Amino acid sequence: MRKLIRGGTVVTASETYQADVLIEADKVVAIGEQLEASGAEVIDAGGCYVFPGGIDPHTHLDMPFGGTVTADDFASGTRAAAFGGTTSIIDFCLSNKGQSLREAIAIWHEKARGKAVIDYGFHLMIAEANDQVLEELAHVVAEEGIVSLKVFMAYKNVLQADDETLFKTLVRARELGALVQVHAENGDVIDYLTKRALAEGKTDPIYHALTRPPEAEGEATGRAAALTALADSQLYVVHVSCAQAVRQIAEAREKGWQVYGETCPQYLVLDISYLEQPDFAGAKYVWSPPLREKWHQDVLWNALCNGILQTVGSDQCSFNFKGQKELGRGDFTKIPNGGPLIEDRFGVVYSEGVHKGRISLNQFVDVIATKAAKLFGMFPRKGTIAVGSDADLVIFDPGATRILSAATHHMNVDYNPFEGMKVHGQVVSVLLRGEFVIRDKQFVGRPGFGQFIRRTPFRRP
Ligand code: URP
Ligand code: ZN
Ligand code: ZN
Repeated sequence: MRKLIRGGTVVTASETYQADVLIEADKVVAIGEQLEASGAEVIDAGGCYVFPGGIDPHTHLDMPFGGTVTADDFASGTRAAAFGGTTSIIDFCLSNKGQSLREAIAIWHEKARGKAVIDYGFHLMIAEANDQVLEELAHVVAEEGIVSLKVFMAYKNVLQADDETLFKTLVRARELGALVQVHAENGDVIDYLTKRALAEGKTDPIYHALTRPPEAEGEATGRAAALTALADSQLYVVHVSCAQAVRQIAEAREKGWQVYGETCPQYLVLDISYLEQPDFAGAKYVWSPPLREKWHQDVLWNALCNGILQTVGSDQCSFNFKGQKELGRGDFTKIPNGGPLIEDRFGVVYSEGVHKGRISLNQFVDVIATKAAKLFGMFPRKGTIAVGSDADLVIFDPGATRILSAATHHMNVDYNPFEGMKVHGQVVSVLLRGEFVIRDKQFVGRPGFGQFIRRTPFRRP
């Protein structure tokens, strides 16, 4: 029942120090030098970092989207996440107009139950903000422990909600202590630009990016921030991709508005030129918002470094190239949007961020785990290493290198957007609530071990 992680360097969002970590059952019970190990299983972490388990605040598993369903479900997706050092995810529960929120949530519980190998929570999509929905939200927050609500400002005629829905959701979220998330792109403008491009015969993947300009993201981000201030509420902008959106978030925060932002590994590392790869391979790089010109990457790294953006989510939303991305040959609007990143989020941000000197070790922990735990009502149970916290731990060898590839990844998808990229650092072992999920790079977890995380209402971090 007791485990002692010996000789590692413990890293949290605020400290880096040599210490042993003692685990009893599912909790950390002591941290210190030369801890007494009697009766405990000793795990050697010499030469390694001991990080809190990664928290991925943005995943789409087993989700119908773009005329198909994501290639990864809660079984394959959470297993891959664990290999990559992630011990908790928050997945997006979709809802439909006319559907009760309880029913939507029950469907998502069914998708995860018995499959997840790591812990999970849900964000709830708000499709409409009628009286029934607004009333039911009290139950969702207080009883279901779902304290984050998602409104799409894009995907016209599919998921997009209007400003009235967003505003009513913000007002209700303030009353209930929920955090409102937005996919911030101006869906109406994008719809117009898309139709015009198709009419001009522009059908290749690159036109997906060219019809979703950064100004459309900046405008929607600024609008959502202004509505948040008007509602005296709180906002989290998902998958920020560009300088225009960062500027809006920075200005909002300077004014004291409660506006937070997340970016994703693809925007930090890849750029718009990937969409021009031959033989339709550009379809592998179709995300919304799209990849941007390379100079935006410095803006995003700086925003993570100086606290304008708080988190890195994977936006895991995987589709095979064969048979799924290919649905959009001859019409870029039919390419399912999204990519497989749940496994490599942690490693890519460490390698490109810490190893390349763009963010510190402690900032890495903050953006990969701690801030998500704080913003989404899981701290200090998760997101840090402290006495009393869940023993969600990653033993990480900073000296190892490896090459990312679809041939070796564990996601259920036939390509890797970072194919051939060399990364520094390697996840060696992962514990969730004191149990190994990954041990010496081997999966030893169990489907169904992952538990639903009931989260607490929003508090300003
Ligand atoms: O392209 C993306 N981002 N796919 C996932 C759905 C979303 O908008 O987050
Ligand atoms: Zn989105
Ligand atoms: Zn997403």
